[in-house]
Amino acid sequence: METRAHLRLFILFIVVSTYTLVSAEDDRRTYIVHMDKSARPGHFSSHHDWYMSTLSTLSSPEETEPTHLYTYNHVLSGFSAVLSESQLAKLAELPGHLATYPETFGEGHTTHTPKFLGLKKKSGLWPRANFGEGMIVGVVDSGIWPESDSFRDRGMPPVPDRWKGTCESGVEFNSSLCNLKLIGARSFSQGMKRRGLNISTTDDYDSPRDYWGHGSHTSSTAAGSPVKDTNYFGYAEGTASGIAPLAHLAMYKVLFLNTSYDAAATDTLAAIDRAIEDGVDILSLSLSFTETSFDQNPVAIGAFAAMQRGIFVACSAGNAGPHAYTMHNGAPWLTTVGAGTFDRELGAHVTLGIGNGSFTIPGKSIFPENLLISRLPLYFGHGNRSKELCEDYSLDPKEVEGKIVFCDYSAENDGTNPSEIIRAGAAGAIFSTEEGRILKPEDFTTPYVAVIPKFGNKIRRYIKHSKDPVVSIKFQVTFLGVEPNPEVMWFSSRGPGREALWVLKPDIIAPGVDVLAAWTPNRGIAPIGDDYHFLLSDYALQSGTSMSAPHVAGVGALLKSAHPDWSPAAIRSAMMTTAYILDNTGGPIIDVTTGVAATPLDYGSGHIDPNRAMDPGLIYDMEPEDYIEFLCGMNYTTKQIRVITGRSNFTRCTPSLDLNYPSFILILNNTNATSFTFKRVLTNVADSASSYQATVTSPLGMRITVEPEKLVFPQKNSKASFTMAVEISLGTLESVSPQSDYIGNYGFLSWHEINGTHVVRSPIVSAFGP
Ligand SMILES: *[C@@H]1O[C@H](CO)[C@@H](O)[C@H](O)[C@H]1NC(C)=O
Ligand SMILES: *[C@@H]1O[C@H](CO)[C@@H](O)[C@H](O)[C@H]1NC(C)=O
Ligand SMILES: *[C@@H]1O[C@H](CO)[C@@H](O)[C@H](O)[C@H]1NC(C)=O
Ligand SMILES: *[C@@H]1O[C@H](CO)[C@@H](O)[C@H](O)[C@H]1NC(C)=O
Ligand SMILES: *[C@@H]1O[C@H](CO)[C@@H](O)[C@H](O)[C@H]1NC(C)=O
Ligand SMILES: *[C@@H]1O[C@H](CO)[C@@H](O)[C@H](O)[C@H]1NC(C)=O
Ligand SMILES: *[C@@H]1O[C@H](CO)[C@@H](O)[C@H](O)[C@H]1NC(C)=O
Ligand SMILES: *[C@@H]1O[C@H](CO)[C@@H](O)[C@H](O)[C@H]1NC(C)=O
Ligand SMILES: *[C@@H]1O[C@H](CO)[C@@H](O)[C@H](O)[C@H]1NC(C)=O
Ligand SMILES: *[C@@H]1O[C@H](CO)[C@@H](O)[C@H](O)[C@H]1NC(C)=O
Repeated sequence: METRAHLRLFILFIVVSTYTLVSAEDDRRTYIVHMDKSARPGHFSSHHDWYMSTLSTLSSPEETEPTHLYTYNHVLSGFSAVLSESQLAKLAELPGHLATYPETFGEGHTTHTPKFLGLKKKSGLWPRANFGEGMIVGVVDSGIWPESDSFRDRGMPPVPDRWKGTCESGVEFNSSLCNLKLIGARSFSQGMKRRGLNISTTDDYDSPRDYWGHGSHTSSTAAGSPVKDTNYFGYAEGTASGIAPLAHLAMYKVLFLNTSYDAAATDTLAAIDRAIEDGVDILSLSLSFTETSFDQNPVAIGAFAAMQRGIFVACSAGNAGPHAYTMHNGAPWLTTVGAGTFDRELGAHVTLGIGNGSFTIPGKSIFPENLLISRLPLYFGHGNRSKELCEDYSLDPKEVEGKIVFCDYSAENDGTNPSEIIRAGAAGAIFSTEEGRILKPEDFTTPYVAVIPKFGNKIRRYIKHSKDPVVSIKFQVTFLGVEPNPEVMWFSSRGPGREALWVLKPDIIAPGVDVLAAWTPNRGIAPIGDDYHFLLSDYALQSGTSMSAPHVAGVGALLKSAHPDWSPAAIRSAMMTTAYILDNTGGPIIDVTTGVAATPLDYGSGHIDPNRAMDPGLIYDMEPEDYIEFLCGMNYTTKQIRVITGRSNFTRCTPSLDLNYPSFILILNNTNATSFTFKRVLTNVADSASSYQATVTSPLGMRITVEPEKLVFPQKNSKASFTMAVEISLGTLESVSPQSDYIGNYGFLSWHEINGTHVVRSPIVSAFGP
């Protein structure tokens, strides 16, 4: 069978895969070494001195000495170093040695949004949080373009006294480039360099300067200053603003250009370690490493340390969707963010015919030139009848020159093939396809418009009834208030998370499709023509869960500013229990992949709603100890738990897989009737006494009993507990989603405030294990 559809897709999310460093010349490799800091001999004035001294004792005279990379103080107690196998063996014998892990590598995951999120200047969370004033958002990413308008500091408050970060100079980066908006910028490349990356031979910068554009995009999304009149080649014109426009930013660069954009575990741990030391309030990470057990995952380890210090951590869920068990960054102590669409679409007006009887339809396009196609002949036919229309070498250049080609794809075989349009020398094309929603700026190398099949049929009828069909196209059109929105994007990674089945992931979704934000202005963003000539832009449209995580980091900054006493778990709970699950037509949020209702395994608790998250009524709070009990429940060893928590005196705890999480998941076993009783504690965070009544929405085959059904909170901060028994009859189970790999059910538990307006909703999912 021939493929007629060529679809170039480029999604941003960094999938980090595991490679072990193998050097050609010797057996020296990079390791992360966890030490028991209580074993430090008294005569060393610091842990660093102890580690350096330890390293110096490891080599015999004829050997190369170990090379120290980083000392870690917060994410773990220990260091990273390049060691030979014999040095490693000696180290493992020393008192105080806890565990050693080899280096691993991960890859990077690939404006109008504040309005879509309902943020308003005069009411709600923005003024209540004073636009994030005083908060510091740390972004671990590919660097930053400090000259971007989004990082100007006009109107910014002074740098908080507690800030200990710095702005490092380096290649094309001068420390004087930092200001009241960008208050810190550091680069971590030791691990990548040990792998053999010579940054001076790539185009990347050996400094905090962003080469890719990804880090500038995520930073400006989280906390960029408002910038008027931004656009992407005439599309999405408007004011671009970060979610927390008065928050400060600090960049921690770990992603460097290799063949893709990679990060080393040693560098990522060092970046989070410094961010904690520097004093960030929020961390945003749009990258991930392979989903291994948490003790081997630098994001999970780093986020645990951050959480213990009250730092809220938002991470992208990954772009490995749409199937089950594709979740990245699924640790329960961080907030995992999936990607949704929002109500702005970019495209073109397509007018068929002239004058009386002509009609205009909308289509998707991000062709980057200001081009007005006026009354060109519309071509619908075959140059070569043995080929499918618009397939490679199907068009005859003599027939299509100067014309717009109509490529009508059937639903089961749709797509676009701009390269054939370019090859044949047509003036442009209209593709009738279901796939318009998922096209990226990189797909628009030639003037074309993708229309949905409903409009494709209209065009076909028009051509059939017209002697000389003609078409006019106006590009650079921005459609607002598009319905239905949001939808869950197909690429967004889906739950359950493999590593921790007993927490429902993702936690939430946020805008992640065609997000406009700052970009590196010196590198091409929009390829046009068949020679891929790149146009430049200082603002770019990007799609991926990489784009959704910084939205949630920005909301985290606003919530922490409005409620400085809230823990990271409380901030996440507020976001989750107030998230919405209906779209802007009042129907359930749709999964783009299937066109039918999405489930909590796609969107977690729903789409983030910042204004409601400001005032959730009740929260499900958690302490670091709760997560440790969870690790015990997962049967992690004492050593693994010491590595994850950095608590070298940890010995044992009560195992429990039932975290005080704001969502519920029941992994089904192979029996016909199964049940589980969850225990939860709610805390009243409203200013006065309140009482709540439980309401349950349960599907066929899921029996839910809440005890008690009424909770009374005598005052602010009072707590009340309840149990929820969920009983499943397997005989009634069906696919939770048409992707058939989720067999299970889902329902919701809502606590409705009596004589009040708060509703505290949690999804309840049952699904089979992987
Ligand atoms: C950094 O910029 C300042 C002010 O523009 C200048 O005086 C200084 O020489 C620069 N430093 C470097 C290392 O380029
Ligand atoms: C570049 O990435 C490849 C894997 O994609 C890896 O094998 C290689 O070692 C990397 N090179 C450097 C210099 O990091
Ligand atoms: C990196 O590449 C540059 C330019 O080719 C070369 O001068 C330099 O010695 C290299 N550095 C290392 C550490 O290999
Ligand atoms: C368009 O056609 C209709 C009938 O076919 C006629 O009544 C109308 O006057 C025409 N309008 C123009 C602007 O020609
Ligand atoms: C039409 O396509 C067929 C199959 O690829 C090819 O063999 C044939 O040469 C083409 N004919 C013309 C006129 O291009
Ligand atoms: C932990 O180990 C116990 C005892 O072997 C076992 O019953 C339980 O299923 C294990 N838990 C998990 C999450 O694997
Ligand atoms: C472990 O050490 C920490 C301080 O490092 C201390 O607060 C804690 O009480 C200790 N726990 C135990 C069980 O000794
Ligand atoms: C599934 O089985 C394991 C051990 O076989 C048990 O520990 C666990 O509680 C069961 N889970 C459910 C939800 O029944
Ligand atoms: C579950 O129930 C179905 C019919 O209700 C039966 O065919 C099947 O054998 C049962 N499975 C188990 C594991 O009991
Ligand atoms: C709710 O309001 C009604 C009418 O004011 C009152 O009778 C009732 O006691 C209130 N219930 C609660 C739980 O406050």
